[in-house]
Amino acid sequence: MAPISSKTKSPFTKSDNLLFDPALIPASIQESLPAGYVVRPLARSDNQVRSNSSFLKTLEVLTTVGTISDDAFQRRFQYLKEHSDQYYTIVIEDMNVPPTSAGSATSSSPSLVTPGRGKIVAAGTVLVERKFIHELGMVGHIEDIAVSADQQGKKLGLRIIETLKAIGQQVGCYKVILDCSEKNVPFYEKCGFERKGVEMGWYV
Ligand code: ACO
Repeated sequence: MAPISSKTKSPFTKSDNLLFDPALIPASIQESLPAGYVVRPLARSDNQVRSNSSFLKTLEVLTTVGTISDDAFQRRFQYLKEHSDQYYTIVIEDMNVPPTSAGSATSSSPSLVTPGRGKIVAAGTVLVERKFIHELGMVGHIEDIAVSADQQGKKLGLRIIETLKAIGQQVGCYKVILDCSEKNVPFYEKCGFERKGVEMGWYV
């Protein structure tokens, strides 16, 4: 892979393929990743359904993902893209992995990286809620944090959370919250969160 310059703010530029402007991702987080790993917005081309490098495969560490066709993936991506000031889904991609046939396009600039050339190893979302209270305040909800089983313990989960907190802060959220299981409490405490309230659920 082409080396990623530490001077570059992000190795990605704003494009129709990306869910949102990668300039929202702090350069300091990119620089703190292991060599060859990049953090970026979800891309339209991250739909390599059930291949080892797909976004959907990464989410399976969380729960059942189900069968999602390429067409269904594209429709959901398009919805998120049309609400891209509300949905911020990010991935970490390991570019050290040899490219697959589905994602082997090359970049014309050595400082730019083509999404999908490597293997997606982590993902997460911050969903921005627009309220009436707190003078039309905004709240970030962190959802669906997933690090591939063979990549856990490398601080990728921490970097995902740092990125989502930074995005929430930059777009104007006055707080960022999440629900998690008891076993993940120590992880989120390491990420700077503290216990607040009680989660309740109603399943249809
Ligand atoms: N218990 C105690 N400490 C933990 C745990 C844990 N379960 N998980 C991570 N940590 C600690 C690490 O030891 C590390 O501490 P250190 O800084 O002192 O070394 C710190 O938290 C950061 O750990 P990371 O390496 O960033 O964690 P990782 O990349 O493995 O990601 C995660 C953690 C996201 C929980 C991952 O294990 C995972 O994907 N699990 C399965 C899916 C899941 O449970 N996702 C969260 C659902 S909740 C939600 O989505 C809002």
